[in-house]
Amino acid sequence: MSEPTAAGSPSPEVPAKSMEQIVSLCRRRGFVFQSSEIYGGINGFWDYGPLGTELKRNLKNAWWQDVVQRELIGPTGDAVDIVGLDCTIIMNPKVWQASGHVGGFNDPMVDCRASKARYRADHLVVLGSIAAGSRLWAFVEGDDAARTKATKALCKYEKCDAPDPARHVLRPFTAITADERARTIGPDADEPGSLTEPRMFNLMFETHCGAVRDEDSKAYLRPETAQGIFVNFQNVVDSTRVKVPFGIAQVGKAFRNEVTPRNFTFRSREFEQMEIEFFIHPSEANQWYAWWRDWRFSWWQSIGLTSSNLQLREHDRDELAHYAKEGAGTSDIEYRFPFTAPGFGELEGVAHRADFDLRAHATHSGKNDKAKYFDQARNERYFPHVIEPSAGADRGTLALLCEAYTPDPSRPSGVFMRFHPRMAPVKAGIFPLVNKEGMPEIGEKLFRTLRKKHVVEFDEKQSIGKRYARMDEAGTPFCITIDSETLSSQTVTVRHRDTQQQEKLGIEQVPAWLDRQIGLED
Ligand code: GAP
Repeated sequence: MSEPTAAGSPSPEVPAKSMEQIVSLCRRRGFVFQSSEIYGGINGFWDYGPLGTELKRNLKNAWWQDVVQRELIGPTGDAVDIVGLDCTIIMNPKVWQASGHVGGFNDPMVDCRASKARYRADHLVVLGSIAAGSRLWAFVEGDDAARTKATKALCKYEKCDAPDPARHVLRPFTAITADERARTIGPDADEPGSLTEPRMFNLMFETHCGAVRDEDSKAYLRPETAQGIFVNFQNVVDSTRVKVPFGIAQVGKAFRNEVTPRNFTFRSREFEQMEIEFFIHPSEANQWYAWWRDWRFSWWQSIGLTSSNLQLREHDRDELAHYAKEGAGTSDIEYRFPFTAPGFGELEGVAHRADFDLRAHATHSGKNDKAKYFDQARNERYFPHVIEPSAGADRGTLALLCEAYTPDPSRPSGVFMRFHPRMAPVKAGIFPLVNKEGMPEIGEKLFRTLRKKHVVEFDEKQSIGKRYARMDEAGTPFCITIDSETLSSQTVTVRHRDTQQQEKLGIEQVPAWLDRQIGLED
């Protein structure tokens, strides 16, 4: 779970995008709503409106098609074999003991006794003087307003115009002493000493199965979909014809009681993952790791994220998760979100988990060496190693929204959503130019034909300019107008969202043409 970084430099061609405006458009046009909004919302939970639901579904469908259904050629020139799985959210709690989540899925948490606010200790930084006995100010890293507030308070206290690098330093909260903590003023506090010592906090949501709520009935909402795949590894091998190397893919909800959910849907408490566990012979792990990392990186570009907003970041040794194999690597595929810019935030992790999970479940379930995979071709019994590309469907959707958001003062809408046609929630708008001369009937007929395969909208209300503006905000790549020439020569006018250019097409050609535009063959 790496944090947004402040590294990197902005690329000159990327216009600054305001997160406030993106969030506002998302609400206004029905991409994303706050969960339970009429009751004041609930922190860390988000709902998708009609357009957002289609967008997220397009993302998950594209992932499933490209990973499981379509032919994918791997590093050896052979087709990659991947099958699907759909596991429960609540599993036997022993799964989470074996996986290390009960003992180790923790974040350091700090409470403020004065404001009652709670922070991730590793998200806090402290600004202050190096002189003994002086005051310090804590704020959340990346929060510019809080940084300005802390800087002003420091300058007032130290009677200076600006922090002096020789005397004033910025340090991680986790690196300060107990004495310094006692002199630190919390982000939402007025007096020093209100921040508690960091305590480890387990991120798993707990529940109980059955009528009795005691330790024996305790269960967890899964914090990742991966473990469902590992505990079903043997079932899949026994019930299908898969042979190592092969993968199991799953898309589903995961839950984490994040200490500080923030940045819109980026860090939520309920979210969806798209995970592949790819099982290989240990000797082939490095080759597959590099291939998966590079293929996943290019996949995000294929659905519309520009390469200048993406980066691959290899983890440092001290960042590796408990399961990751040293020397083989873990990479994050990161996107430059408006709230991380000029830095990047994690979109997907690609990890070499070695045989950590299969071995752990073999031990905890008592199956031990009986759980080893028998490789007929090699005549060898072993625990396969695992390469895990693990992506977030909500972070992916958020990246698509941020990427698409394109301010354009020359348009009536002031903005348009430049989605890749495969991702666009609505593929085409069909508009009769006027509500007479048979145009609505022709439009409706075309609408009924296209909607057999695609999400399309028929709109006969308001001026054509207003209809274009609505579609621009929804990110609809094509608007198809039925006009007088449709009556005389059976052509329609297609308006392209990004260029606003228009072209004529024979009405009969439209279905196959639209398929091609969004990447479907005839
Ligand atoms: N099975 C490995 C695993 O779960 P992770 O890096 O903790 O690894 C994988 O999560 C992906 O899930 C992340 O790259 C991110 O896209 C998404 N994700 C993780 N925590 C999230 C959260 N609180 N809110 C939204 N997405 C999250």
